[in-house]
Amino acid sequence: MTILRVALNQTETHPSYIALANYSDRLEEQTDGRLRLDIFPNETLGAQAEVLQLLSDNIIDLGIISGSQMENLSEDFLVLNMPGVFDSVEHQMPVVHDPEIVGELYTSLEDSNDLTVMGGFTQGSRHVYVKNEISSLADLDGVKIRVQESELNLAMIRALGGSPTPMAFGEVYTALQSGVLDGAENNEVSYYTQNHYEVAPFFTNTNHLVGLDYMVASTEMLERLDPADRQLLEDEWINTYQDHTTLWGAATDEAIEATKAGGATYLELDQQEVKDALAPLADEFLTTPVQRELYDKIRAAAPEQEG
Ligand code: GCU
Repeated sequence: MTILRVALNQTETHPSYIALANYSDRLEEQTDGRLRLDIFPNETLGAQAEVLQLLSDNIIDLGIISGSQMENLSEDFLVLNMPGVFDSVEHQMPVVHDPEIVGELYTSLEDSNDLTVMGGFTQGSRHVYVKNEISSLADLDGVKIRVQESELNLAMIRALGGSPTPMAFGEVYTALQSGVLDGAENNEVSYYTQNHYEVAPFFTNTNHLVGLDYMVASTEMLERLDPADRQLLEDEWINTYQDHTTLWGAATDEAIEATKAGGATYLELDQQEVKDALAPLADEFLTTPVQRELYDKIRAAAPEQEG
């Protein structure tokens, strides 16, 4: 029997956990119980930076890892985290599973880090939320916002006028509660499942990024698997990210409703002002021909805008 250990930093109610649990059920069913996943939620195996190391060392098999952490291993991953590179989840999901566009990127860490990327789960649009009401970007001046640990994330919040503080995901609630932070940035689903709305009740629609979580595998594990099992793992991954994408929409609606009922207020900021503030980041961060080519391919795959 093969049991693959998967690290996740979300709760059991998050769509990523549910999609992984469904994945495991399908693998188990199709192998008469020979192959399944053992999912460790809530950062029980450590924060994502530590999980990447465990994967590299072949101590665990799979992990859901935010794009920001991958940027720290290779600058090419920056491209998929650029504000504006994806118009929507509908643009993002086919692109991040298109081997013509991301095939080389996903195998680029095999020799150096023993990591293979299988695809990704959307993080939807990310937004800034804060403890005190704001009415424009100018009000973010000096406001301490938690970011994921990468240079691009720091620059993103600086560009919006805030003061970025890098921190692991699981520490954010307490830091908001104690006042070490004035705010954070994430999607509605994590805002709800991590209970951040309780301690930062003003959610603003900055829409600064359509985020991505990668499904990262230990390359050694993939090579060790029985070839038929590996094929099944890869085939069922397709159903898994599609399942996740369907769950995502409903989870976002539910999160908005539940956080509002719990006292959160959703504020509207000027979208053009946000876009203009973030526009210089592409030139600053995308400096190599490989990055530019990948960026252009992704933009070329954007669905046509209506009207
Ligand atoms: C989202 C994402 C996580 C990430 C987290 C964060 O919840 O799905 O993978 O770790 O944001 O802000 O750290």
